[in-house]
Amino acid sequence: MREILIPADRLSARVLELGHQITETYRGTTPLLVSILKGGVVFLTDLMRSISIPHHIDFLQLSSYDGGTKSTGTVRLLSDLATDIGGRDVLIVEDIVDTGLTLQYLRKQLEIRQPKSLRVCALLNKVEARQVDVHIDFVGFDIPSQFVVGYGLDYDEKYRNLPYIGVLDMK
Ligand code: IMP
Ligand code: MG
Repeated sequence: MREILIPADRLSARVLELGHQITETYRGTTPLLVSILKGGVVFLTDLMRSISIPHHIDFLQLSSYDGGTKSTGTVRLLSDLATDIGGRDVLIVEDIVDTGLTLQYLRKQLEIRQPKSLRVCALLNKVEARQVDVHIDFVGFDIPSQFVVGYGLDYDEKYRNLPYIGVLDMK
C-alpha cells in the first residue's frame, strides 16, 4: 500500500542537523517556535529536543485540505496562537510545503503582528508543486510531488503515527 521514502534513521539525523543550525542562528535570543497543528507536531517535538538554546513553543491550526489529497486553495485559521508575537523572533515549523498557499497565508497573518523576525523551517519541501513563491529558511528534505504520510502527516487522519515518511499508493 505504501513504500518508505525517508526511513526513521534519516529523519532523526536530519532533524538533529536542523536543530544545530537553528541553535546557531538564534543563539543569544529566545525564539518562539510556532507549530502548525496537527501535522507539524511530531516534527516539532523532535526538533525542539535538538535545539540547545532556550525557546518557547506555541501552536495554531490551519486548514486547506478537507480530508483529501489536493489543496482546496482556501486556507482557514481554525485556532490562533496564545502568544503575542510582537517583537519576538518567530520560527514557523511546518511539516510540509506543497503549493505554498498555506505558508503564504500564514506569513501574511503573522507579519501583521510585527514580529522582530520571521523565519520558516519545513521538514519536507515539494519543490515542483509550488504555486506561489515562498521562502523557506531551513529545509529538511526536497521530495517529489507525491502524497506522503507518516511522522505527523496524515491521509484522512490516518498514518500520523508511522515513524517514517511513506508514499501513499493512491490506486
Ligand atoms: P500547501 O498549502 O499546498 O503548501 O499545503 C500545505 C499543507 O497541506 C501541509 O501543511 C500539510 O498539512 C498538507 N499537505 C501537503 N502535502 C501533503 C502530503 O503529501 N501529505 C500530507 N499532507 C500534505
Ligand atoms: Mg500542515
